[in-house]
Amino acid sequence: MPPSAAWYGRLLASQMRTMPPLPNADLSGKTFIVTGANSGIGLEVAKHLASRKANIILGIRNLKAGEEVKKDLMKLSLDQAIDVQIWPIDFLDFDSIARFARKCKEETVTGGLRLNGVVFSAGLYGLGWDQTPDGYEKVTKVNLVSTILLARLVIPLMHDCTEFKARMVFVGTALAETTMVEKFDLDNPIAQLNDDKRYPGYEERYNQTKTALHTQICQLMTRHPDIAFVDAAPGLTNSPFFKYHGLAVRTMAKIIGRETEKAARNISLPVLELTQSTEYHNDCKPSRFDLPCLDAPKGKKYAENVWNDIDQVYARYEI
Ligand SMILES: NC(=O)c1ccc[n+]([C@@H]2O[C@H](COP(=O)([O-])OP(=O)(O)OC[C@H]3O[C@@H](n4cnc5c(N)ncnc54)[C@H](OP(=O)(O)O)[C@@H]3O)[C@@H](O)[C@H]2O)c1
Repeated sequence: MPPSAAWYGRLLASQMRTMPPLPNADLSGKTFIVTGANSGIGLEVAKHLASRKANIILGIRNLKAGEEVKKDLMKLSLDQAIDVQIWPIDFLDFDSIARFARKCKEETVTGGLRLNGVVFSAGLYGLGWDQTPDGYEKVTKVNLVSTILLARLVIPLMHDCTEFKARMVFVGTALAETTMVEKFDLDNPIAQLNDDKRYPGYEERYNQTKTALHTQICQLMTRHPDIAFVDAAPGLTNSPFFKYHGLAVRTMAKIIGRETEKAARNISLPVLELTQSTEYHNDCKPSRFDLPCLDAPKGKKYAENVWNDIDQVYARYEI
């Protein structure tokens, strides 16, 4: 079903809301990975964390941009006591994800790294049909498969302690509540997204990758009670995300989209405060993910089959 009038009403009301300022917090000695931190929402989350004295690992592929970001983050931490590192990662390449996770493991085992949290902001909204050489449709690979692969590889490396529960914050979207579930191939969910004859249109495909991501975050919650997980939606944001879209979409993002710093508060707040898994965050507060069919037997089967599909990738790259 396309988004209902009620959904659009909620979106508009949400866009009009003022995002509350972030609380002050001292994150000295805490370390967070932020993917997609060279741009948009991920960059602003990294700034929020740096100004609260966290150490940050920038998980990005644009290393030149990373050097500029690093300089900015060092300036924000006034006494320059934080450690900012740039670790290359390309979500279109599983080998790159595995290399990143292995580096994380080495640094944890021999380098004294204590990883307190991960923010997954890398994401893609491609307009055309494009595949990687290993047969993955690119939006599906970046937003869903690589994101969950990275989460699963680093979960055993997370540093959970009584003082600060380990946490993983995924940047989701309210659009994931509008997915046309009737188009799902319940038995072969990833194969469907990788098949240009069966994939939904590009808008629906982006939404579906984020719906599937939501189901996998819920899977992680039940499998890893020692870590706090959340799917956090920033709201429509005026960021470089829409660079491939036409003038109409870019203009809409400019008019009703949030500034990236304000949108990023929706993500940074759970990074600062999350102490138990929460299905969904919207407008800087816990919220209900409104897609009831996911709770029905078909929805549960879909979630399990996405898990099983990604499990086959995970088995090849387990570190
Ligand atoms: N903007 C919105 O209205 C909106 C709304 C809801 C949710 N979101 C979500 O918010 C997240 C951040 O988006 P944004 O609005 O901040 O847009 P953005 O500025 O375009 O950020 C996207 C980030 O993802 C990175 N990325 C894309 N493909 C990658 C790959 N193959 N490997 C590594 N990194 C990759 C980009 O890096 P490069 O610069 O190297 O491409 C960039 O850092 C996304 O997950 C998006 O789905 C956005």
